[in-house]
Amino acid sequence: MKGVILAGGKGTRLTPLTKIINKHLLPIGPFPMVYWSIIKLREAGIKDILIITNGTHLNSFTTLFGNGEELQVNLLYKVQDGAKGIADGVSYAKSFVEDEKFIMVLGDNIFEDSIVPYIERFKQQKSGARVLLKEVSDPSRYGIAILNEEKSIINSIIEKPKITNSPYCVTGIYMYDHQVFDFINSIKPSARGELEITDVNNYYIRQSELQYDVLEGWWIDAGTHESLFKANTLIYEQMNNQIETKKGGGN
Ligand code: DAU
Repeated sequence: MKGVILAGGKGTRLTPLTKIINKHLLPIGPFPMVYWSIIKLREAGIKDILIITNGTHLNSFTTLFGNGEELQVNLLYKVQDGAKGIADGVSYAKSFVEDEKFIMVLGDNIFEDSIVPYIERFKQQKSGARVLLKEVSDPSRYGIAILNEEKSIINSIIEKPKITNSPYCVTGIYMYDHQVFDFINSIKPSARGELEITDVNNYYIRQSELQYDVLEGWWIDAGTHESLFKANTLIYEQMNNQIETKKGGGN
């Protein structure tokens, strides 16, 4: 399976940090933010990865990662023309993934779980898509999944609802089959002028083709100053725990 990382957009919620630096190159722990997405994909055996970013920052990405050799992955890059939405960004992956199923990660999502079990379940799906949910306390920031009473299916997804009873955020880790490109062609820009990934996911719901899992570990969309700080704290904690575990194992 191939992987796609979205690292374009404007990063407006992180100004002035993002005035000259792409959001996904800001530090989280000792590495640039997008490094963590690459590592999560690599841990799941996904080595062929396409990074989609904007024209202004492409050079920074290629200078940093090159063809991916240092990280033991094969990296390709594409430039998204403008920040026309996540679904617009995904459309640039069509020739890269061909007819295969693929996983797409938003480069500002930092999370604890291994994606291996979720990918395994997606592989067992004949067709359709799979999203990963996480309970959040501030649902109006995200795409929110409304589940049926039995919690067996997602009835609908609402993008940044002002009021909702559902705590289930749709995280930026999405698994799609080739139908995604037809669905993207069928949607229209939202009120904020973007092709919304939520509209694409609702298309899958209408075909009864959207499955989900709930992430167990911590998850963060590091797109604001506060959450960027929190992501740094969690990553340093995780790194320190790993050092402690190694020390313990060595005794
Ligand atoms: O983090 C999860 C949330 O991400 C979901 O719950 C929402 O449904 C989804 O719309 C998205 O919401 P955000 O408001 O956080 O999206 P944002 O504009 O911050 O973009 C998310 C990522 O996608 C970020 O890494 C930049 C990238 N992006 C965004 C746009 C609009 C692109 O590469 N191209 C784009 O045109």
